[in-house]
Amino acid sequence: MNYYIGADLGTSALKLLLVDTDGNIVNSVSKTYDVSFPNPAWSEQNPEDWWTALVDGVKDLTENIDVSLVRGIGVGGQMHGLVILDENDNVIRPAILWNDGRTFKETEYLNEVIGKEKLAELTGNIAFAGFTAPKIMWVRDNEPENFSKISKIMLPKDYLNYRLTGVHSIDYSDASGMLLLDVKNKKWSKEMLGICGINECQLPKLFESYHKTGNVLPEILKELGLTGDITVVAGAGDNAAAAIGTGTVVDGKCNISLGTSGTFFVSSKDYAALSNNAIHSFCHANGDYHIMGCILSAASCNKWLCEDILKTDDFAAEQSDITDENLGKNDVYFLPYLMGERSPINDTDARGVLIGMRLDTKRSDIVQAVLEGVAFAVRDNFEIAKEAGVNISRSTLCGGGAKSPLWRKIMANVLNIPIDIPSAEEGPGFGGAVLAMVGDGVYDDVTKCTNKFVSIKGTVEPTPEIVERYNDRYEKFKQIYPSLKDVFKSIK
Ligand code: XUL
Repeated sequence: MNYYIGADLGTSALKLLLVDTDGNIVNSVSKTYDVSFPNPAWSEQNPEDWWTALVDGVKDLTENIDVSLVRGIGVGGQMHGLVILDENDNVIRPAILWNDGRTFKETEYLNEVIGKEKLAELTGNIAFAGFTAPKIMWVRDNEPENFSKISKIMLPKDYLNYRLTGVHSIDYSDASGMLLLDVKNKKWSKEMLGICGINECQLPKLFESYHKTGNVLPEILKELGLTGDITVVAGAGDNAAAAIGTGTVVDGKCNISLGTSGTFFVSSKDYAALSNNAIHSFCHANGDYHIMGCILSAASCNKWLCEDILKTDDFAAEQSDITDENLGKNDVYFLPYLMGERSPINDTDARGVLIGMRLDTKRSDIVQAVLEGVAFAVRDNFEIAKEAGVNISRSTLCGGGAKSPLWRKIMANVLNIPIDIPSAEEGPGFGGAVLAMVGDGVYDDVTKCTNKFVSIKGTVEPTPEIVERYNDRYEKFKQIYPSLKDVFKSIK
């Protein structure tokens, strides 16, 4: 029995799983690092911190096993982040992350001057502030010295893969979120590169997520405490990796992730872009395609409320007073736009809001409002997909937020679909391990391997009465953002 390492390069931590070739999780380790916010709405990380987390994490992960049985590594990573390297492959500046909102001007230029239609024709998508192309333009216009030094542009997980193998690689699922890839035809869009002022030689080589890009370099094997030939695959954006890890691999299947971000992801056999491009149309990690809506703050809203405001890390205790009777009856509403918002409103100025409080409002009403606000924001994306004819009849749920039985129930009732809880809630890491096994030849197909490994351990069904109450609440929630849109602009 051999082992494969699946890594999830998240925003708050690198989570590592050791998975055997039967799909059992043998060990897991998490290494945290900081996000820095050098300016309001900016969000950066030091790629060296990711590398340190990987080296320390792999050592801990493999401490008590025969390391000669470790045969491969697959990484799923936070998407869209800009990592730039100079001609000696040194990092030029801190990585600008997926939830960074500095590129309002560049995003507006792309959508209004180049035009949404043109962008959609070239890439299958319109511009969102978090995407990589507007970040490249921001560096070009604000840090010309850094821009002139760029030899390679990559995404966060590609930096780890580069350090492991010495190969500059990227996979189609993650490349889709750069707004530089012609998603339908799986090749770089020369016109988009021209718009950003970069050349194809500055971009990594494109691979399918499950393709091997190289072996771990001999000097790195030593650093990690591993031996032999260890396959590294191209890996995937964390949402595509989570889809693999939760069995979201067949046409029409949906996965929702409540991590730092909140996403809903629908797998599609064929290239699929919605007419208004309000949600993303990307490549999948199994060689197919998918659509996805992304809210920038999900489980991070609950973490912020509990840890930073209420000063507790006992999230379960905060939720223990909230019963079925309370669901859909809360008069407090929360807009979860703590980092601005991506889809569908695409507004970097939007901010978090708690509204509707009275003197009798309880602490638990506010906790509940935060969980509900995230669910409503996911529903905003769902409604867009539904209007465009995408039928979502049920979904798996993964990510930190999926651990809360209350939040599962809220999601099932706000979205009015059964929510399935997969055997491995650690979606991206598990997906990374699957990709590594396929890349190493243990299995010949991602979809087959996923279907063999992933099972559903429980389902939360919506309750008609609660659904009814939430439909009513959602109508009220929908009025809040439009009435504050201009206020957000004036208070920024
Ligand atoms: C997806 C997105 C986020 C990050 C979080 O488009 O930006 O889900 O990938 O890690």
